[in-house]
Order: sequence, then C-alpha cells, then structure tokens
Amino acid sequence: MKKFFTHEYIDTQIVFIEKCKELLKEKYKKIPKFYLHSYGCQGNVSEGEKIEGILNQIGFMKTENVESADIVILNTCAIREKAQEKVFSNIGNILNLKMKNKEKIIGICGCMVQQEHVKNRIETNFKEINLVFGPHVIHKLPEMLYNVLLKIKKQYIDINEKENIEENIPILRGSKIKALVPISYGCNNFCSYCIVPYVKGRERSRDFNVILDEVKNLVESGYKEIMLLGQNVNSYGIDLDLKDGFANLLYEINKIKGDFWVRFMTSHPKDFSKKLVDVISTCDKVCKHFHLPIQSGCDRILKEMNRKYDKKRYLEIIEYTKEKIKDATFTTDIIVGFPGETYEEFKETLDIVKRVEYISIFNFIFSKRVGTKAEKMQDLVPKEEKTRWINELIDMQNEISLKLNKKYVGKEEIVLFEGLKNTGEDFMVGRTDKNILVCCEKKEDRIGKFCRVKIKKANRTMLEGELVD
Ligand code: 5AD
Ligand code: SF4
Repeated sequence: MKKFFTHEYIDTQIVFIEKCKELLKEKYKKIPKFYLHSYGCQGNVSEGEKIEGILNQIGFMKTENVESADIVILNTCAIREKAQEKVFSNIGNILNLKMKNKEKIIGICGCMVQQEHVKNRIETNFKEINLVFGPHVIHKLPEMLYNVLLKIKKQYIDINEKENIEENIPILRGSKIKALVPISYGCNNFCSYCIVPYVKGRERSRDFNVILDEVKNLVESGYKEIMLLGQNVNSYGIDLDLKDGFANLLYEINKIKGDFWVRFMTSHPKDFSKKLVDVISTCDKVCKHFHLPIQSGCDRILKEMNRKYDKKRYLEIIEYTKEKIKDATFTTDIIVGFPGETYEEFKETLDIVKRVEYISIFNFIFSKRVGTKAEKMQDLVPKEEKTRWINELIDMQNEISLKLNKKYVGKEEIVLFEGLKNTGEDFMVGRTDKNILVCCEKKEDRIGKFCRVKIKKANRTMLEGELVD
C-alpha cells in the first residue's frame, strides 16, 4: 500500500504570505477583494473554503460581486461534460470583465484543469488567465500568487503535483451552522465511467486524531452539523492500516460532548459493512440517512462499470440497514444510458428504485470522460432515447418521494434550521436527521438550532410544519 506524506501548510508558505502582504499594501489603495465560485461536489466546496481561507490570510476580503473583485477564482468540476462546458462559458464572461480592468487577476483551479487537454485549451485559448492550479497544490497559493503579483510569469500553471495531505490550511467556512470536514482525498476505485481517480489521485486518509480534534473544535465553536467527506468514506483508514477505520471514527466522534449531528458522504456499497450499520445504530449523533450510489440495477452494467458489487449484495445491505435502523432513509446516484445499456437493463434500475424506496435520487445521463475506460465503449443509444429513460425514472421517483414524505404528516420531527427559504422571506428551511427538507414560518432566533416541528403538509420535495415550542 502506497504511503502518503502529511505536510504543514504554514512551514512552506509563511515567507510568501508575508511577501504577498507587502505587495498588497503597495498595489492596492483599499482592501483588495476576492470572488470565488466552486462548482460540483461538497468536496470541491470544501477545497474552495481553503482557497478562501488562504486569500483571507493574505489580506483579501470576500465579495459576492464578481465585477468589483480584484481576484476572481473559478474552482471547477470535471465530473460531466455539461459541468465543464458551463465553466468555459463563465470563463468567457469573466474575461470580458478583465477587458475593462486589466489588473484583475483570474484563476482557474479544481478538477477540470488536472486534465491535460483542458490545461492545453486554457494555455492556447485563454492567455489572459493568470493562474491555473490543480487540487494537489492549493497549499502553494501564496507562492503562486506572489509570482503573479510580481508578474514573474505571464501565466502561472501548477498542476499534477504528487498527491499528499496538507494540514492546517486556514479555512473560511461558508456556514456557521454546518461544517464540511474531509476525512480522505482521492479515490482508488476506477469505476469505468469516472474521471475522479485521474484528477484527484489515489485515496489518502487524514490522520484519525487530527479529524477528531477538528470536529471537537468545530463543536466547541458552535457548529451543529458536521459533514464528513470522502469519495468513499467506507474505505477510510485502509492506507493508514486501520481496521474498521470509518466505523471507529464515527464511534469516537459520537462521544464528543455537545449538541450536534454528524453526516457523511459518499458511501461505496462495496465497502459498506454490517459492522458499520451496527455502530451507527448505537450512535445518537449520527444521522440515519444513507447515500448509497447504486449507479445501475443491472448486474451486467455494474460489472462493466467496475462497481465490484451486484444487485444481490446491494439489496442485502439495504435490507440489513432497514432491519437494524427502522426509520433509516436512503438516497442514491444513478447513471442512465451507460454504453451498451439496453432498455430492458435500464428497467432493472427502475425495479431496484421501486424496491429500495429512496427519499430522493440524483440521476445523470452518462457523459463520456477523456481517459476513462468507458470512453472507448460503444455508445449507440441516442440522447433523446436516454432522455426518455431518465424521465421515466424521474416520474417514478417523484411518486415514491411524495408517498414517503406524506408518511411524516402528523408526526413531530427534530429539524436543524439552516436559513431562509429562497422563494420567500417569511419561511425558514432546515433538514431532519433523515435529510428531509422542512419549512416553517420564520422565527429568526431558531436558525442554527434544533427545533421540534409538527409536520402539517408534504409535497415530493419538502415538508411543511409548525414549531412546537
Ligand atoms: N457520467 C454521468 N454521471 C457520472 N457520475 C460520475 N461520472 C459520471 C459520468 N461520466 C455520477 C455518478 C457519481 C456522481 C457523483 O456522478 O453517479 O456517483
Ligand atoms: Fe468515481 Fe467510482 Fe471513485 Fe466514486 S467510487 S469517485 S464514482 S471512481
């Protein structure tokens, strides 16, 4: 098993942080501002929070206004073609802003730029971009920025560096209620459709006690929900030679004193053990919601996808979890139209969706990614056909979600309120530990608190209720 090294961010960057601070004083009359947008998964959002932490430490202030920002960073996602094209169109918009203000610094980072062909496209077509860096070198941002501020290189590119773990990078968290805590980076699974192992590198777990300390500090400073993140949380600790690493981590986190919930994402069904379910069933702070991506309900397709489980094994773990934890809820990811998939095979996915009864699903039409095994597989089903299949899936799921949500009407639930509902200032929204959205009439002092709510109404996406006290 390959071993990875953990470094302390500050050791290598302290000189550049100080140098950048001096340059900032010379260059800007007012406090300079940064704008950052993270695309894609929660892991990427968490990395965005580190980039923001570093920029903040150097002396930039956060702004939501891209036009007035002195530095603009797009933290990109490569998971599907659509996500990538969206980024390219946004790059165009931002470069237009740079035409008005030549001093604006533009940075592109994240998974997308780890791909050679994307890096080349940026180098040749977008010469005005100042900074291009991959997820393995976030900790070197002070050094990279120093070079850009001094205009040492016209375009500073730093990607593909060896994978490692950098601890103690400052974090500017996007929420004061929910905290994202990565427990591992990268992925070893090489599902045949997926770009992640190529752009994020091999799976490497953070030190057990470092994670525990981070969670303790977050709880002490008032965070109410801790979201543990990894491409496959169930294999946490294997590279550290830990046995049952993830189950033990949850067990220890559960012992931390305080009023908080723990969630985790994502579980790979192949590593989801009965032992883990047993442990979770005894942990009152661990939310009883399981995101278990199935991808397909057909054994032949699962094999082609290199998922390393079959339908039988998947249903077994679901059944075991339902038995052990009576009111557990499930969500999943599904890929529709994998190369070679027939309608008959797709119907097996519909069948499993019906059997499991997920509270909601994330569904995607297969997207060809450069360098993956599935890129070379023959894909004959037309896009319109796949769209019909996915709509059939969505219709079926909508009915299931509505049926499951209606079961909560008349019951009392504990809800952690997160903020105001987008579509109206009069309502606030939160989630139950089963990850069901609940809205209630606004009472500002309840935001960030666990509240008892009597559920009055349900639709397929949300419950509506009244505060009990
Ligand atoms: N095409 C479509 N969906 C994909 N996913 C990952 N790679 C692809 C792809 N090439 C989906 C999987 C995964 C989720 C995060 O994104 O369902 O679980
Ligand atoms: Fe991609 Fe599979 Fe790894 Fe998930 S487990 S990130 S789908 S390769």
